[in-house]
Amino acid sequence: MAKQFKEVHFNLNGRDVTTVVDVRASLTDMLRGDFRMTSVKKGCEVGECGACTVLIDGEAFNSCIYLAVWAEGKQILTLEGLMGPNGELSDIQKAFIDETAVQCGFCTPGFILTATEILNAGVEYTDDELRKLLSGHLCRCTGYENIFRAVKKTMYQRLGKPWPEG
Ligand code: FES
Ligand code: FES
Repeated sequence: MAKQFKEVHFNLNGRDVTTVVDVRASLTDMLRGDFRMTSVKKGCEVGECGACTVLIDGEAFNSCIYLAVWAEGKQILTLEGLMGPNGELSDIQKAFIDETAVQCGFCTPGFILTATEILNAGVEYTDDELRKLLSGHLCRCTGYENIFRAVKKTMYQRLGKPWPEG
């Protein structure tokens, strides 16, 4: 019979960590259960809502459909890792507050991590491109327009460009 548990070593929010996981466990369950990363939300658990999004080597993934054992050797970033050393919020987190892009907050960590990947690309996306890049996330509180504005505003801030008209 195949071994059911495996040791996994990876970097979580800048820290090298090791744990032992059930080979069938999802990355969501490992991050929440073993490391108390409760920003990683469990929504649909079938890869459709984006609530469980984390960055793996800089790329956004739905952690509910990513096996915990696949984290071996990877750099994983959750919302907890976005804050500065003294708990300072990042620019995109501040923009979500400023644009009232948070209602119940359940979808927020996932949106912010996808936004982080988008913003780290350093590209000026069109509105259509931005909407498409954010489209893997569901918000039951229908905060889409404010979320879109928060990401767009941060994109222009990082590019050092003024907010465009219209
Ligand atoms: S909980 Fe993972 S995509 Fe919905
Ligand atoms: S703020 Fe409630 S689900 Fe998006």
